[in-house]
Amino acid sequence: LDRFNLTGPSPVAVLARRFRDALEAAFGAQYRWVDPAIRPSQHADLQANVALALAKVLERNPREVARELVDRLDVDDVVSAVEISGPGFINLTLSGEWIAEQLQRIAADERLRVLRAVQPQKVVVEYSSPNVAKVMHVGHLRTTIVGDAIARILEFLGHEVVRDNHIGDWGTPFGMLIEHLLDFEGGTDAGLRAFVSDTGAFYKAANARFKSDEGFAGRSRRRLVALQQGDDETLRYWQRLVDVSLRSYNALYERLGVRLTADEAMGESFYNGLLPEIVDELEQRRLAVPSEGALCVFLSDFKGRDGKAKAVIVRKSDGGYNYTTTDLATIAYRVAVLRADRVVYVVGDEQKEHFELLFAVAEKADLLLGGTVLEHAKIGMVTDPATGGKLKSRSGDAVPLSALLDGAYERAAAKFDESGRGERFDAETREAIIRDVAIGAVKFADLLVARSSKYPFDLERMIAFTGRSAGFVQYAGVRMKSVLRKGGLTPESATGPIVIGTEEERNLALHLLDFGITLEEAGAAAAPHLVAEYLYGLATRYTAFYEACPVLKEGVDEETRASRLALCAVTLRTLVTGLELLGVPAPDQM
Ligand code: ARG
Repeated sequence: LDRFNLTGPSPVAVLARRFRDALEAAFGAQYRWVDPAIRPSQHADLQANVALALAKVLERNPREVARELVDRLDVDDVVSAVEISGPGFINLTLSGEWIAEQLQRIAADERLRVLRAVQPQKVVVEYSSPNVAKVMHVGHLRTTIVGDAIARILEFLGHEVVRDNHIGDWGTPFGMLIEHLLDFEGGTDAGLRAFVSDTGAFYKAANARFKSDEGFAGRSRRRLVALQQGDDETLRYWQRLVDVSLRSYNALYERLGVRLTADEAMGESFYNGLLPEIVDELEQRRLAVPSEGALCVFLSDFKGRDGKAKAVIVRKSDGGYNYTTTDLATIAYRVAVLRADRVVYVVGDEQKEHFELLFAVAEKADLLLGGTVLEHAKIGMVTDPATGGKLKSRSGDAVPLSALLDGAYERAAAKFDESGRGERFDAETREAIIRDVAIGAVKFADLLVARSSKYPFDLERMIAFTGRSAGFVQYAGVRMKSVLRKGGLTPESATGPIVIGTEEERNLALHLLDFGITLEEAGAAAAPHLVAEYLYGLATRYTAFYEACPVLKEGVDEETRASRLALCAVTLRTLVTGLELLGVPAPDQM
């Protein structure tokens, strides 16, 4: 991301543009694109370190270079002070009037001056992607939540987003699952109910029979062949398993406030028909060659332990296709049919190697047609706080997502009632708040962690009203709403004028100027934690402002009150927009 080419109100971006002109004026056009290296500083609001690096190139004294730069720097409207310090740092203190003016413009803009992408892209965001034959478990929590936030952020930035739930709805387990379904006591309807209510148990039972019962295993194998050959009756049973699974996912997505429906499910089965074609082409072009009965693509850039080029199997020795083959067809489809500029795969980091090899094969086979960018947005594991290992249920299986959400709801309800809040609301409101708090807590805790880092699932810490928690951020929003309500205004009608007086007002205002740049960075890096971190920072600064700066108290003069109400209003709109982009609810009361 070229954050210096932005036209938004972030001081870093605004000053960077001014530095470019100064660099060109002082040293010539070839230095225009040198990074001005503007960062927050302890000595001023911002510090530019460009003179030190530039002095090396020019073989000159850095302080002199800084001096020349500052002489050409046209920033009088933006800063109240520019100082050269130490070996040649340039310290910049922003002017209160400039900050207020920018904020006023943000407040007047429906989009809070968040810019739409100059070159909108078509972006496929692939996320959630559970396997139909297995339970949707804690491992899918993050791929679902993080993916949804990435999709929302990119959409808000003006990109055309295709949400794509790449469900695992094809492959070997379906033979035995269908046979088990047909044998079910009470018929297939009862079987489907059992499948949905405890998919894990259903799968286990089928698998146990497959291993112990020769007859069943034989039938399952024949059933799989029938499925692959497109036998009508078999496809009908398969479709029913997929449909009931999708319905249960949808219930979870709805509960989580995730924008995925059955329409976005483009599972592995969808690409099944394309597999022979893709593989034939690889074979004809001799990119894929026979090796020990299988058909492989050899990648000389990737060496195995034996030092030889890694082989990626695209057709197994039994003639069947695999996960990689399906993914190659998926790429071809997304590039050629969807015309994607960018594909973001929100998938666990344990599949790192799969994607590295996959992307390399796609590149080698020229499937990207030169343009499409593929990224694996790696997701770290959710761990058990006690063991540090994978989060497991008592039976040793992965924790089902629904059980995890039930736990969060119970914990939130207990905490809410303990704090005496429960009694303040009627039953329906209480329940709605607890739901928002519980879902918000799980999602926000997840989003605060950089997506590729692992983190322990600690409900106690997630469901809090202080510290780095959704509760703290949501509560700050509730306060903003209540101040405005008591002041007789709405987020739209509190327009100031804004004046920046105290340090707390200044800190809050400065943070508000960075909303747009934060979203752009989050979108470019597929990193929603930047937004979560930003919102936590916003709530912290608002809380400090709230404690230090009276708004409605007697004795506060008219102008200050109007300004502070406007500050509350623009903070609230930023907070609500940000939470919405993360899919975290913002309750009206708590
Ligand atoms: N269904 C897979 C799983 O649960 C994830 C799919 C990842 N996406 C892909 N294009 N391979 O492990």
